[in-house]
Amino acid sequence: MQNHKRPPASVLFIFGGSGDLNLRKLTPALFNLFLDEWMPEKFAIAGLGRSSYTDEAFRAHLLDGIQKFSRRKGEENGHYNDFFEHVNYLQMDAGDEAAYSLITDKVKEKEQEWGEHPNVIFYLAVAPQLVPDIAVKLGKLNLCKDTHSTRIVVEKPFGHDLKSALELNTLLGSIYKEEQIFRIDHYLGKETVQNILALRFANALFEPVWNRQYIEHVQITAAESVGLEGRGGYYENSGALRDMVQNHILQLLCMVAMEVPVNFDANEVRNKKVDVLHALRPIKKEEVHEYAVRGQYGAGWIKGKEVPGYREEKGVNPESETETYAAVKFYIDNWRWQGVPFYVRTGKFLNQKATHITIQFRPAPQYAFPAEAAETWRSNRLTISIQPEMDIRIRFQAKRPGQTMTLDPVNMIFNYDDAAGEHAPEAYETLLLDVMEGDATLFMRADQVEAAWKVIMPILHAWEARTPTDFPNYSPGTWGPEDAEALIARDGHAWINLAPSK
Ligand code: BG6
Repeated sequence: MQNHKRPPASVLFIFGGSGDLNLRKLTPALFNLFLDEWMPEKFAIAGLGRSSYTDEAFRAHLLDGIQKFSRRKGEENGHYNDFFEHVNYLQMDAGDEAAYSLITDKVKEKEQEWGEHPNVIFYLAVAPQLVPDIAVKLGKLNLCKDTHSTRIVVEKPFGHDLKSALELNTLLGSIYKEEQIFRIDHYLGKETVQNILALRFANALFEPVWNRQYIEHVQITAAESVGLEGRGGYYENSGALRDMVQNHILQLLCMVAMEVPVNFDANEVRNKKVDVLHALRPIKKEEVHEYAVRGQYGAGWIKGKEVPGYREEKGVNPESETETYAAVKFYIDNWRWQGVPFYVRTGKFLNQKATHITIQFRPAPQYAFPAEAAETWRSNRLTISIQPEMDIRIRFQAKRPGQTMTLDPVNMIFNYDDAAGEHAPEAYETLLLDVMEGDATLFMRADQVEAAWKVIMPILHAWEARTPTDFPNYSPGTWGPEDAEALIARDGHAWINLAPSK
């Protein structure tokens, strides 16, 4: 028995129960929480969907997901039956209001069985257009009046632009209290992302130099080596800016740039993050070309496999102007960051899967050393690798052993695998546990979502107003369009690509 406090009794309803997110992420995460004894002593999970499944067939389907997608896949640990005893399937059409009585009945059944009123969690793992209707129908249940124990979890995309995000927030806000709404940005659940706060605020070493006086620029790369993976229909209406920059990347930027929170209270941490979004310098529509670059991949080869261009993908318009790559330069107008550029980039079918943040320090004065000592001189650099590599490296100068004063850059590396082995939880494990515990620190508050949309709206408007004449402008397996190299080269810098370790 582990020595930790488990969340209170909970019933989880997963809308989109037979869908991909549940199969790949939610059920494997819940199962791992179960194995690690983090699930409540009393819990029930109900998958909801229109497809017809018996409980047995549904469990078999989910078991397949665990075996394929769990971080523990391949481990025969014999706990499947114990876990699946808690899992049922409720066939229902989410558009049919009468069917929602199934939910009330299920909660009543568990209340009687357990002798207590449980947390009731509605996880909306459904297409974004279905969210408003389900939220409204759920809101009519008496259950949702319990603002303490009933919660609703909403996946991204959260709105398509500022206007629709505001509308969705207004709608949800008219039914639920903000504390009941858990807007997921799964990047915030990643161990390596949470560790940014530990690195910055639990060490005396970094915070004193974490500002414009010592830092020259910051880079955030979220490169993917995969393409659309069958999501053409969704992606065509989204693009890289909406899909990755508005949410995951801006959240990483907030973690790097935020001020020290007074405590780790959910609202305090989120206040500090939203301050960063408010301080981001608005990009004028007519200046967007100086600050942002878009790209779209053409046909080519990646990892020895021939792949079609974006415009030939299923569900994509053959003349599509949707970007599959975006790079942006941001400035944060506050005392800490004035004048320090933050370069961010993301794209599909890039050279490698790699998400990392680089803090590039200003050069140290070299005058005390002989000229030859400085030949291989490099400025200090701190690299936080989020995935798939999970490490933190500090590059500094060291004397090359020998009779001359020659300096070489060397790396000091903290590697998560050495520290935690296979045991680091996946993002969804952390986030689902937080929902059951009612801790919203790692979830997006309404004003954060809106502030993030405000930041990217000028770019979206400028891009919509001008047809890209050079699409497709990068080949699969490269690092994106040449213009993106120029964006950063104009300031005398270059994108930093880390050599893959495997
Ligand atoms: C999702 C995007 O939010 O994040 C996907 O919709 C993207 O397009 C994915 O592939 C990346 O997540 P991760 O955790 O693999 O970096």
